[in-house]
Amino acid sequence: MNRVVNYQQCIKESYQYVKNLPSKGALADYIPELARVDDSKFGAYMTNLDGEDFGIGDDLEKFSIQSISKVLTLTMAYQKLGEKIWERVDVEPSGAKFDSLILLDTNKGIPRNPFINSGAIVVCDILVSQLGDPKKEFLQFVRDLADLPELEYSKEIASSEKSCGYRNVALCNYIKSFGNIENDPSEVLDFYFLACSLMMTCQELSQCFGFLANRGRRIADGKKIVSSSQSKRLNALMMTCGFYDESGEFAFGVGLPGKSGVGGGIVAVYPKNYTFAVWSPKLNLKGNSYLGMKFLEDFTTRSELTIF
Ligand code: DON
Repeated sequence: MNRVVNYQQCIKESYQYVKNLPSKGALADYIPELARVDDSKFGAYMTNLDGEDFGIGDDLEKFSIQSISKVLTLTMAYQKLGEKIWERVDVEPSGAKFDSLILLDTNKGIPRNPFINSGAIVVCDILVSQLGDPKKEFLQFVRDLADLPELEYSKEIASSEKSCGYRNVALCNYIKSFGNIENDPSEVLDFYFLACSLMMTCQELSQCFGFLANRGRRIADGKKIVSSSQSKRLNALMMTCGFYDESGEFAFGVGLPGKSGVGGGIVAVYPKNYTFAVWSPKLNLKGNSYLGMKFLEDFTTRSELTIF
């Protein structure tokens, strides 16, 4: 960590900056439970490799991590399958919306990357094949990433999404028609919706992503989660695909690997330095947190704590 920078002061200034911005965007009302969240919430939490953490605002309040979970399901599947995983899902930006069906036809059921819905559904299929009890074992995996034994799914949010998740049902069935889903689509989707419903605070999220800033090892005790090469690849995928058709904009403005979710959360990683989790529920038109992106852009510009 560059000690010349007073990052706590920068966080406070960036917080003031977003508090004074007009709050634009809308809640993710295509999942009815997410439309009930207080849209004025804002939290941010930074975890540094040297053990100095700092949080601000609603950083200790739980929210639905949604697509941020796709990094965690991918990490677990990558642990199990190793490089063979890339035979099932590609590593290219899609340039399309997160729930798009379009490129699946051209690419014969191989999703462009693991962070769009189609790719994450294939990753969930891999875990359903690999694990005896995927729901329980995935929850335990995330709990162990940062010693968070209290973490839970939100069954309300998962069943709310299931009640109207027609597009994901279409994606899963379409991929199955190409032979790239091994299991029963309803079993795969139940697991996918549940993984997306994980409830976490900014503090928990930034701590749990610590291994991606620490060459694949847990910060607290150095336990290996993935190899340093796998950690590099997961970060590269977040950099190029973490924000769907806004991944270029996130790299351009913020300059870090990151992943968003329609619950309004964003996790950003500065390898060998820090992780940052931000939460603001209103989304821009691409489905990414409007103020969350503004905050991180302001912070990395102010502090110069960016990989570029
Ligand atoms: O499948 C869905 O549509 C949601 N469970 C997750 C989408 C999401 O978080 C997109 N991210 N910004």
